[in-house]
Amino acid sequence: MRGGYGTKANGMMENEMIDDIEEIILTPEDIEREVSRLGQKISADYMDKDPLLVGVLRGSTVFIADLIRHISLPVRIDFISISSYQHPSPGVVRIIKDLDEPITGKDIIIVEGIIDTGFSLGYLMRVLNLRKPASLEICTLLDKPARRILALNPKYVGVEIPDKFVVGYGLDYNQKYRNLPFIGVLKPEIYQSNR
Ligand code: IMP
Ligand code: MG
Repeated sequence: MRGGYGTKANGMMENEMIDDIEEIILTPEDIEREVSRLGQKISADYMDKDPLLVGVLRGSTVFIADLIRHISLPVRIDFISISSYQHPSPGVVRIIKDLDEPITGKDIIIVEGIIDTGFSLGYLMRVLNLRKPASLEICTLLDKPARRILALNPKYVGVEIPDKFVVGYGLDYNQKYRNLPFIGVLKPEIYQSNR
C-alpha cells in the first residue's frame, strides 16, 4: 500500500485525485490495523467452519482482497453485484450479477465496504436468507450509523464514520478514486448530494 506513494506514475495519479480530498480519515496504516483485527476475529469465530465470503461489487473489492489475507482459515470467495436506485422510490435494489455458487447450508459472510442507509444490505440479507444458508453475517469496513434507515445488525464493523461522503480503498464517486490507498472525505463541491 505504502509503495504507491513512491512510484512516479502512482504519485502523479494520486496527486490529481488528492486535490479532490478534503480530509483523510483513515490512513493506509489505520486500514491495515482494522482489516487485520477483523480477519483475526473471523478466524477465531469460524475456527471449525468453512466460511464463504461474499463480496458486494464493486466497493468491497479492495477490502476483501486484503481481508482474506488476514484470515487463517481456508476461506472461499464469491461476488454479487447489486444496484440501488432513488427512483421509482428510495431503497429499490436489484441484482446485476448473482453469485456463481449455491449457498444453501453454508456459513456466509457478506463483505461490504460501507453501510449507509442499510437498504442494499437489508435487501441482500433477505434474498440470501431465502437460499437457506447455515448462517449469514455481515462484515463491513465502514459504517455510517447516522444515515441508517433500515435496521441491520452487522457482526463485524471496522470503523464508524460521520455522515460524510468518503472515497478510496475501493469506494468510488462516479467510478473514480477507488485506487486511493486511504479513505478520505470528498470535497463537497465535487460531490453533489443526490444520495
Ligand atoms: P446503502 O444501501 O444506503 O447502505 O448504501 C450502501 C452503498 O452505497 C455502498 O455499497 C456504496 O456503494 C454506496 N455508498 C454509501 N455511502 C458511500 C460513501 O460515503 N462513499 C462511497 N460510496 C458510498
Ligand atoms: Mg459507488
